[in-house]
Amino acid sequence: MARKLAVIGAGLMGSGIAQVSAQAGWDVVLRDVTDGALARGKDGIAASYEKFVSKGKLEAAAAEQALARITTTTDLDAVSDADVVVEAVFEKIEVKREIFQALDKLAKDEAVLASNTSAIPITKIAAATSRPERVVGTHFFSPVPMMQLCELVRGYKTSDETLAAAREFAESVGKTCIVVNRDVAGFVTTRLISALVVEAAKLYESGVASAEDIDTACKLGFGHAMGPLATADLTGVDILLHATGNIYTESQDEKFAPPEIMRRMVDAGDIGRKSGQGFYAH
Ligand SMILES: NC(=O)c1ccc[n+]([C@@H]2O[C@H](COP(=O)([O-])OP(=O)(O)OC[C@H]3O[C@@H](n4cnc5c(N)ncnc54)[C@H](O)[C@@H]3O)[C@@H](O)[C@H]2O)c1
Repeated sequence: MARKLAVIGAGLMGSGIAQVSAQAGWDVVLRDVTDGALARGKDGIAASYEKFVSKGKLEAAAAEQALARITTTTDLDAVSDADVVVEAVFEKIEVKREIFQALDKLAKDEAVLASNTSAIPITKIAAATSRPERVVGTHFFSPVPMMQLCELVRGYKTSDETLAAAREFAESVGKTCIVVNRDVAGFVTTRLISALVVEAAKLYESGVASAEDIDTACKLGFGHAMGPLATADLTGVDILLHATGNIYTESQDEKFAPPEIMRRMVDAGDIGRKSGQGFYAH
């Protein structure tokens, strides 16, 4: 019998996780608060499957079967028979804690309770439940169908069994996992990109090199697909300022102190691609 996955939140990440999981044979129930959000999520998944079919990367019949494995609901009770629950709602700790409190009452005792948070400590989310050993971070990357990585995050009380079950789930949907053994701010991935962006912005700010040359150094010197300043523009300078600021506050490590230029860019509204101007004009 196929195993059952419940995904809470049918936005960009939740629908991506549902998509790859259904394709890998999981029975998926996708839960959101409104029928509109569920319809948008499921339509997006159908469109993405169609794209893979048109490119010859997925059989039409397989796409149809995968889509049929995804049901949608606004009822949180639907998690009651899930083996794995992945939460992918807004990045707000109060919302996530409220959901985990409810999951604690509704989910099977042996279910894995996972959060896709990109920055909130798993320990804080797990503390909303009576079973923090069953709570783990499964940090997928966007777009989920294309990105290979899943960053598994151990909360303070996450058990070895839970981590192993989370790994098994992520690998079953085609991802390669890295394990974050201590629940530090920014995990591994956000710490790495923050350190790189902060240093790149400092070099740019002090006139050591142009934005283009800093990015070219990373692309041609280190084989990065994209330079740090172009990445900042794509992600949003505001998002990265917030992320590095959080890591700095928690760690008090000077290397994460956001440089002044990032604050001024955000004050001025030059936050990257979404505003038309960041380190580059778009
Ligand atoms: N967008 C990214 O690139 C990215 C990458 C990695 C991790 N994340 C993390 O994934 C999570 C989701 O991000 P996203 O970009 O998919 O957000 P999103 O805004 O696209 O989707 C969030 C969804 O959650 C729903 N929601 C809100 N409250 C809910 C509730 N109580 N029950 C069920 N659904 C609820 C919303 O209606 C919305 O559909 C966040 O924690 C985010 O930090 C995002």
